[in-house]
Amino acid sequence: MSIVFLNGQFIPENEARISPMDRGFLFGEGLYESIPTYSGKIIGAKLHLDRLNFGLDALQIPHPMSHAEWVELFNEILQRNEGDNLGIYVHVTRGVSQKRFHGYMSDTAPTVFIRTFSINAPLEAGAEPLQVAKVLSQEDRRWDHCNIKSTSLLGNVLHFQHSHQQGYDETLLFNEHNELTEASSANVFVVKGEVISTPVLDKQILPGITRDILIQVLQRFAGITVEERAISMDEVKNADEIWLTSSTREIMPVIELDDHPVGNGAIGNVWRKVQPLYATHKFDI
Ligand code: PDD
Repeated sequence: MSIVFLNGQFIPENEARISPMDRGFLFGEGLYESIPTYSGKIIGAKLHLDRLNFGLDALQIPHPMSHAEWVELFNEILQRNEGDNLGIYVHVTRGVSQKRFHGYMSDTAPTVFIRTFSINAPLEAGAEPLQVAKVLSQEDRRWDHCNIKSTSLLGNVLHFQHSHQQGYDETLLFNEHNELTEASSANVFVVKGEVISTPVLDKQILPGITRDILIQVLQRFAGITVEERAISMDEVKNADEIWLTSSTREIMPVIELDDHPVGNGAIGNVWRKVQPLYATHKFDI
């Protein structure tokens, strides 16, 4: 039985109870993080907690605890659950209110929920990918604050389901100017020749931690600069390689976009060059 943390207590998951008056339930007013850990080593803890605090400030939810206290809880929940490769799911909502009213009080005690879940073992340097992706494209119909890692994920869910129910793995999203934003649950990189590009950080995309770690690893350990800029739909369609990045998928090659092969339809050479760098140095950032 998996052990979760809820509002100060470690309890079996099937005993965890949340009030229906929790504003996370009523209004989707919450934030979350999915943090990968391998053999007890947490990837990007500070980056994840900084992003969580950014979201808490944006929603005027008090910080439930300090970075050090979060990390202590993460280590404890890892010890209480079995498995070498565990994601830590952290969920903070505004908390419970007395009545259903759109306006919020900024001093309500937040609800804090943490659970672990199994993730794939980290891909060794030089290994073949566990999975490659076939994706569809859609116009990005989400909201204007995609930089906040909000639990209000209905837009993302609808975009994901569009491809998932047709047997594809993800949906690449394009804004009204036909520029790439991200995928419904991952950031996107494109490669042309040797040049690696990814959309610039703004309110249209989530500032992904894997994206950040990959950019830093390439710069620091290989002197490779990733271009952060606007990327047109034509560039994406003519890319030699497309990758998805996320905490649970690491760097996943996309081999098909809208039923057309990406590049020559095989795993790209630049992915093969970059993956060992990420595999070796992701713990160093
Ligand atoms: N999703 N963009 C979106 C919309 C995402 O939902 C995610 C992550 C990412 C990648 O962020 P990171 O590298 O920090 O995982 C980008 C996670 C895995 C989720 O929804 O559980």
